[in-house]
Amino acid sequence: MKARLTDKRVIICAGSGGVGKTTTSAALAMGLAAEGKRVAVVTIDPARRLADALGLDDLGNEPHLVDPQRLAGHGIEVRGELWAMMLDPKRTFDELIARLAPDERARDEVLANRIYQQLSSAVAGSQEFTAVAKLYELDRSERFDVLVLDTPPSRNALDFLDAPERLTGFFEGRALRVFLAPTGLAARVVGRGTGVVSSVLKRLTGVDLLDDLSVFFRSLGGLLEGFRERAAGVKALLADERTTFIVITSPEHEPVEEAIFFAGKLRDADMPFGGLVVNRFHALDSGPPGADVAALTTALGDAKLAAKVARAYAEERTLAERDHAALEHLCRATGEANPIVIPQLDGDVHDVDGLVAIHRHLFAD
Ligand SMILES: Nc1ncnc2c1ncn2[C@@H]1O[C@H](COP(=O)(O)OP(=O)(O)OP(=O)(O)O)[C@@H](O)[C@H]1O
Ligand SMILES: [Mg+2]
Repeated sequence: MKARLTDKRVIICAGSGGVGKTTTSAALAMGLAAEGKRVAVVTIDPARRLADALGLDDLGNEPHLVDPQRLAGHGIEVRGELWAMMLDPKRTFDELIARLAPDERARDEVLANRIYQQLSSAVAGSQEFTAVAKLYELDRSERFDVLVLDTPPSRNALDFLDAPERLTGFFEGRALRVFLAPTGLAARVVGRGTGVVSSVLKRLTGVDLLDDLSVFFRSLGGLLEGFRERAAGVKALLADERTTFIVITSPEHEPVEEAIFFAGKLRDADMPFGGLVVNRFHALDSGPPGADVAALTTALGDAKLAAKVARAYAEERTLAERDHAALEHLCRATGEANPIVIPQLDGDVHDVDGLVAIHRHLFAD
């Protein structure tokens, strides 16, 4: 990993759900910080496993410095700095609006708008979008040598690549233009008989939906240019030669196929593909293909237990064979000759020891 990450400034860990993106991001950041870099890892970890592991009570929406003593006790000497934050998509979105708004009034108008409030937490891809928006902001701040970005637990890793475009696409899109046009939907809806419906609704619910809607679109219209610029900047950052995508997968069928697809997409889009991590791998040891039940029974003095052990052994073998076949398939399909393989550990990775174990595999010679 060390060689692959030399001179990289932005490292994006992408992959299918549950394959170890958050774990790998944290371990990568830890390794780079140990080498002397000022590193910030931005994670999207609703489970807060990372925050807990690193001893951060409130990750907030800004990077927090991880106490080096916390890692020193586990044999990791941090010569640089390790900063960590957990992305809060809603807050990032609000901060972005605040930055792009031409004045305070426009800002408050958008932030207070009920449609915006719903949309900013619900719009598809907003988590992906805010992740890259935050990345962009941290990059511009020049506070860090390296940024490591975990990506959201989306079902499709590609959502992430398209995020800037999808969001600006939405704001620039036909739907919005139709709505905003002087004779557009907004005007028509507000102008016609629906006014009656609206006023009934307002009386019943106290919510003036149409007013909210028109304010929303009017005020967002003023931010469009900023959004567009932002998206262009983000896109350039993602394609930069000092940015790299690490594709993470487990050896299971679906994540493997998604990793292959994603690696291909990166290449097609001329995005920097930095390497493949195959996590939760079951290695095939040099043992016999099957357990000797008779010998086990003698050794254990318990036929039932011996049968159980033999079955567990057979299952491990099958898993290992599956994983080796998956690895071969992955290498062939992605053209990556040297993936980094991390074994399935005995327990969950939920503390510093777990992270250190992953880190050792990532940075092994
Ligand atoms: N090598 C490993 N051995 C054992 N457990 C692991 C290993 N790597 C990760 N795990 C466990 O697998 C689970 C998923 O890991 P992680 O949260 O890092 O994945 P993720 O890709 O970020 O998931 P999501 O898509 O939900 O964000 C966690 O419970 C973690 O502790
Ligand atoms: Mg995660």
